[in-house]
Amino acid sequence: MLRTIFSWIAGLALVLLFLVIVSPDVFRGYVYSTEQRSSGERVYQTYCIGCHGADGAGNGAAADMLNPKPRNFVDGEYKYFHFGEAGPLPSDESMQITVRNGLPGSSMPAFPLLTEQEIRDVTNYVKSLREGGWGESQPIQAASGVVPIEGETAEELFKNAACYACHALEALDAAGGVGPALDDIGARLSYDEIVESIVEPTAVIASVCPAGPCPEAAMPQNFGERLSEEQVDTLASFLSEQQ
Ligand code: HEC
Ligand code: HEC
Repeated sequence: MLRTIFSWIAGLALVLLFLVIVSPDVFRGYVYSTEQRSSGERVYQTYCIGCHGADGAGNGAAADMLNPKPRNFVDGEYKYFHFGEAGPLPSDESMQITVRNGLPGSSMPAFPLLTEQEIRDVTNYVKSLREGGWGESQPIQAASGVVPIEGETAEELFKNAACYACHALEALDAAGGVGPALDDIGARLSYDEIVESIVEPTAVIASVCPAGPCPEAAMPQNFGERLSEEQVDTLASFLSEQQ
C-alpha cells in the first residue's frame, strides 16, 4: 500500500517537473505580472541563469557539465555573427537570431516560446552585463570588403564563405538559421538560378526563411567579386545535386 502511494507521488512529481520544464510559460503567468514578464532581467532569470549564471559569467549550475561552455557575458568572446558583421560584438539582430534559433552543436537551446519583445528585452539585458559597456558593433558587412575567398572543394568554400553560418545543409553539417535550408535546393532551383542566387542574391528573394519572411539584403552582395567563376561553379554544381 505504502509503495503504491510512494510511486504515485513520485509519478506526480515527475509530471509537475516535466510541466515546469516544458511549459514554464504557463507558470510564469501566475507568478509574474505582465510588467515583470517583459523585463529582460526577468526573462534572463527564468530561462538563462541555469547555464549563463546569475551575474552572466557563464557559470550557471549546469555549466560544469557542458561543452562548449555557456558564453561568459561579462568579458567573454562572442562567436556568432549571423549577418556577416565584423566582431568583436554581434549586432542586436544577430544576437536575437542566436536566442530565437539556438546554437545547434551546443546546448544553447532555441527559444520559440519567447515573444519578439521578450527576445529584444533579454538581449538588451545581456548587453548590459558586459564589463566596460557594450561598444557599437561594426556595420553589417563592412568587414567583408573584396577579400577573395579561398578554397577549392564545395565543402571548403561553404565554410570559408560562411554560407554555413546562415544556411542549414545536412550533407555538410551546416545548421545556420538565417536563410532557407539548402537540403533540397537542387529540386527547387536550376543550376543557373543557383548561380544567380549566389552572385546576385537580390535578383530573386526566397520567400520562406527559418525565422519568417526572408530578410532582403541579408545575404552578402559581393560573392560575385570574392569568388572566382570556377569557385561559383563548384558551389552551384554541388548545390544542384542536393535534392
Ligand atoms: C542549457 C544551457 C543554456 C541555456 C538555458 C541558455 N544558453 Fe545561451 N549558450 C549556451 C552555450 C553552451 C553557449 C555557447 C555556444 C558556443 O560557444 O558554441 C551559449 C551562447 C549564448 C550566446 C552567445 C552567442 C555568441 O555569439 O557567442 C548568447 C547571446 C546566449 N547564449 C544567450 C542566451 C540567452 C539570452 C538565454 C536565455 C533566454 C540563454 N542563452 C540560455 C547555453 C545555454
Ligand atoms: C549572412 C547570411 C547569409 C550568408 C553568409 C549566405 N546566405 Fe544565402 N541566403 C541568405 C538569405 C537571408 C537568403 C534568402 C533571401 C534571398 O533569397 O536573398 C539566401 C538565399 C540563398 C539561396 C536561394 C535559396 C532559395 O531557397 O531560393 C541560395 C542558393 C543561397 N542563399 C546560397 C548561399 C551560398 C552558396 C552562400 C555562401 C557562398 C550563402 N548563401 C551565404 C543568407 C545568407
